[in-house]
Amino acid sequence: MGRKRREEIIFENIEVLDAGARGVSVAKAPDGKVIFIPNVVPGDVVDVQTFKKRKAYYEGKATKFHEYSEHRITPVCQHFGSCGGCKWQNMTYERQLFYKNREVYNNLKRIGKIELPDFEPILGSEKQFFYRNKMEFSFSNSRWMTEEEIQSDKEIENSNALGFHIPRMWDKILDITHCSLQEDPSNAIRNEVRDFANANGLAFFNPREHSGLLRTLMLRTASTGEIMVLIQFYDDDKEKRELLLNHLQAKFPEITSLQYVVNQKANDTIYDQDVTLYKGRDYILEEMEGLHFSINAKSFYQTNSAQAYELYKITRDFAGLTGNELVYDLYTGTGTIAQFVAKKAGKVIGVEAVPEAIEDAKENAKRNNITNCEFFVGDMKVVFNDAFIAAHGKPDVIITDPPRDGMHKDVVAQLINIAPKRIVYVSCNSATQARDLALLDEHYKVTRVRPVDMFPQTHHVENVVLLEKR
Ligand SMILES: C[S@@+](CC[C@H](N)C(=O)[O-])C[C@H]1O[C@@H](n2cnc3c(N)ncnc32)[C@H](O)[C@@H]1O
Repeated sequence: MGRKRREEIIFENIEVLDAGARGVSVAKAPDGKVIFIPNVVPGDVVDVQTFKKRKAYYEGKATKFHEYSEHRITPVCQHFGSCGGCKWQNMTYERQLFYKNREVYNNLKRIGKIELPDFEPILGSEKQFFYRNKMEFSFSNSRWMTEEEIQSDKEIENSNALGFHIPRMWDKILDITHCSLQEDPSNAIRNEVRDFANANGLAFFNPREHSGLLRTLMLRTASTGEIMVLIQFYDDDKEKRELLLNHLQAKFPEITSLQYVVNQKANDTIYDQDVTLYKGRDYILEEMEGLHFSINAKSFYQTNSAQAYELYKITRDFAGLTGNELVYDLYTGTGTIAQFVAKKAGKVIGVEAVPEAIEDAKENAKRNNITNCEFFVGDMKVVFNDAFIAAHGKPDVIITDPPRDGMHKDVVAQLINIAPKRIVYVSCNSATQARDLALLDEHYKVTRVRPVDMFPQTHHVENVVLLEKR
C-alpha cells in the first residue's frame, strides 16, 4: 500500500471480486473495507487509486492492470469509460446475464425472504447493441474534456457538445460521435444536427447562465421504419429554429414526425410543455404481433421493442389465460400488455396514472379493433378501491407492472383483499418487487420466476414472477 496525497491511497494487486450496484465493480481493501471501482471486471487484478474515502468504503479507479479477467472483452464503443451509459460493455454478454440473474435471485432471497421455485433461465436480448428505440441527447456549450485534451496545451476552438451528461456532472456533456444503442439513422441525424448548428452559429445551451438556442434532441425509431425527431429549444427564435428544422427535413426525408418544444423552464423535461408538430404526424407507429401502437412525444413505450415482445409473451404465458378470464392490467401505460393479452381473455381492464397514456391506450385499442379492453385513469392507490372492483368485477388474473418504486402498500393490501387466482408481477426493480412479494407471501406462493434482459451492456434487469393463491 502506498500513499500519494493525503486522502489518495494506492492499493496494489487488488482482485476485483464482484459486480456491484449501479454497474460499478467491488473489491476489498487490505483494511477490510469495500472499494468501488468503475470500468473493471470481476477477476481483474489491479492497482487502485482511491479518490473518495468514507467510513465504510472507498471509491477508486484502476491505475494499473496486473491480470485481466477471463470475462473481460474489448468495449466496442469509443466513448466507453467517459460515458456513463453502457458500463458493462467490457464484460462478455454471458457474464452480464450471470450477474443480472444473480441480482434478482439475491434480492428475492435476501429482501423477500420467501420460498422460491427454480428460476427459469434468464432471457437474453437477441440484439446486444442497437436495441433502443428512444434516445435523448443534450446540447451544451461546455463540452467534457478528456484528461489528454486538458494536459495537451492545444487551444480548444469549439467547446460545444451534443451528447450525454457525464455522471454526477450536471453541466458537462460528453460529445457523442457514435453511439451503438439506436439503429441508424440515429447517429447520422445527431451528428448532422451538431454540424449544421456549429456551421450556422446556432448557440448551444449554456447550462450555468440558462441561455442559448438548442437544448435537447430526442430521437424515436420504430420497427415499422418510422422516425420521430423532437428538438427542444430554449430561445424562441423562429428564424433560426426553422433554418435547422427545414435543413433536417430536406436532409432526412425518412423522418415521419418532426416536432419541437420551446422550453424556458429551469429543467428540460418536456412532460409539462406544449409540443408543436412541424412536419409529418405527431406520432409514430410501432407494430407487435399484428397490433399497432401509436407513440407520441410524451408516451412511455418499452425501450427495447424486440425484447418487449418477449417480455409480453412470458407475461401472457404466466397469466395462463383460457379465453374467459377477467384480467386487470395495473400500471398499463399505453395499454400495451392489456391489448397483447386481450385475445386470450374475456375482458381486460387497464389502469394508469397518466391521462395522455390512457388516451393513447383507447386510441390504440380502437385502431386494433379490440373491443374487450377498457381503460381508466388515476393514481393506483386511490382508484383501485372497493367501488372500482364492484363496478368492473372481481378479476381472475391481475397483471401488474409498476414503476421502479414498486407498488404502494395499499395496492398490495387491495390485491390480498381481492384475492385473484393468479398475479403476474412484472418488475424493473427486483428489490422493490421482493419487498412486495414478502407482503403477499402469506396469501400467495411464487410458482414461476423468469428474469428478462431488456438493457444489454447495463446492470438493469427486468423480472417476471407468477404468484398463485395458497
Ligand atoms: C413500468 S411502466 C409499465 C407500462 C406498461 N405496462 C408497458 O409495458 O408499457 C409503469 C407505468 O406505471 C405508471 N404509474 C406510475 N405511478 C403510478 C401510480 N401511482 N398509479 C398509476 N400508474 C402509475 C407510469 O405512468 C407507467 O406508465
